[in-house]
Amino acid sequence: MRRKILAGNWKMNGLTIDLQEIIEISNFSKDCNTEIILCPPITLVSKIPSSIIGSSLQLGAQNCHFNEVGAHTGEISAKMLTDIGLTHVILGHSERRNEHSETNKILKKKIKIAWENNLTTIVCVGESAETSRNGLTDSFIQDQVTKTLPEQIQVNKLVIAYEPIWAIGTGEVPSLKQISKTHNLIRKLININYGLLAANSVRIIYGGSLNHENAKDIFNLPNVDGGLVGGASLTHKSFIPIISSLETNLK
Ligand code: PGA
Repeated sequence: MRRKILAGNWKMNGLTIDLQEIIEISNFSKDCNTEIILCPPITLVSKIPSSIIGSSLQLGAQNCHFNEVGAHTGEISAKMLTDIGLTHVILGHSERRNEHSETNKILKKKIKIAWENNLTTIVCVGESAETSRNGLTDSFIQDQVTKTLPEQIQVNKLVIAYEPIWAIGTGEVPSLKQISKTHNLIRKLININYGLLAANSVRIIYGGSLNHENAKDIFNLPNVDGGLVGGASLTHKSFIPIISSLETNLK
């Protein structure tokens, strides 16, 4: 049985005043069976009450460097993230792939260093609108998954997020059939490259305009193990109903 997982990606949002949202989400998480992770900007982490760190709500980062230490101005290492109590890191988000030229090769190094530092990686893959329009989603996803993941994987520290770029922050969501098809493809690729046990264990989650209205149907799909939520994770009022959709799905 794969444990359901829901991660909130705050991106470059969140000031001290928003800490209350994190506290509310943490309070709600206490009674949940789902693994719930929030990835606020790193500036907020030191202000989060210590009782939350290591509690039912786990905290993650949105990126890390591929080296552990050194002359990399402005960067943060996986070791530093573990050092402040973070347990997860999002890697390969399309915004970072596009705005920071993160290649599959760089991401592979980041994943390895994150695992060495005991972080669970939420590795994002997803096609652009043009790729989708041209009917090239499958080959694109195959290429990204194969080239981004290391030769040997740590199954219990790997979560793959399927996030079509055209669905991020747009209110557009692929059909349930399309989500299912791509999740099946990713699981099939894990089977081919790493074996059946890995394929049955790796969690594959959906991201892109998830909200309280569409979450339930998406989480009901057999190969969807949870979600990665951007905009709707910013307030407890919009995030908690999505957590509830996943929890209902467990019953
Ligand atoms: P969204 O973002 O939920 O705002 O579409 C998802 C993401 O980018 O992870």
